Amino acid sequence: MSIERLDKLISTSGYGSRKDAKKLIHSGVVTVDDAVVINADFHVDTEKSSVAVDGKQLSFCTHVYLMMNKPAGVVSSTKDNIHQTVIDLLDKEFKRRFLGGKLHLIGRLDIDTEGLLLLTTDGKLTHKLTSPKQNVPKTYFVRLRDSVSDSEKIEYIQRFKNNLEIPREHNEEAFTAKSAELTWENSPNECKLTIYEGKYHQVKRMFAVLGNEVIYLKRIGEGAIFLDPALPPGKARELTQTEKSALEI
Ligand code: URA
Repeated sequence: MSIERLDKLISTSGYGSRKDAKKLIHSGVVTVDDAVVINADFHVDTEKSSVAVDGKQLSFCTHVYLMMNKPAGVVSSTKDNIHQTVIDLLDKEFKRRFLGGKLHLIGRLDIDTEGLLLLTTDGKLTHKLTSPKQNVPKTYFVRLRDSVSDSEKIEYIQRFKNNLEIPREHNEEAFTAKSAELTWENSPNECKLTIYEGKYHQVKRMFAVLGNEVIYLKRIGEGAIFLDPALPPGKARELTQTEKSALEI
């Protein structure tokens, strides 16, 4: 059950600010279950009631699903005293749709990592994509400091496939990485890596074990979602119906 204030529902359905929504409600054009309601703090059960503005039925998606192309230099958190956060980058319209401030990040990317970051108000989806038991694939484009010869390329592929031992880093425990898939680009120092977990600095630590260093990292896929190449860095957009279906939302 999802109970929301009427003015909030009107505003988050694209009718402007909360103040604009209140004006609309007071003007008598808003109905709940076919009866005019002029009280802005009227509470609506979005799963049972229908709301219309000027006779036009609203369809509520009580959850928001966004993909962002995270730029480098921005932190994956909702608040930070020093750096700009991914939330700071969101348009006003998305911020208005937080529906009670429940918008959160599905996982994190390091400050210098770019690319696909999913944000949602839907805790169930977050659990589904971040639970270690689900083995959700995450694919990264990686650029390395050192060029790798053809025979070393094969060694990297094998080592990543065979559960690499990752040593402790700072306060983060050592761990055995799940089998990961590496494919080389047509370049001696660029590749794509798919991992099935999301430990602290995981990709950087995996390449460090092989004596190399990641100098550029971009996430391009997570679960069934791939970064939209048309989405500029720093921008976010709602997931399309096809993308939501692929996530079984
Ligand atoms: N692995 C890393 O090392 N950093 C990230 O941001 C994501 C995966």
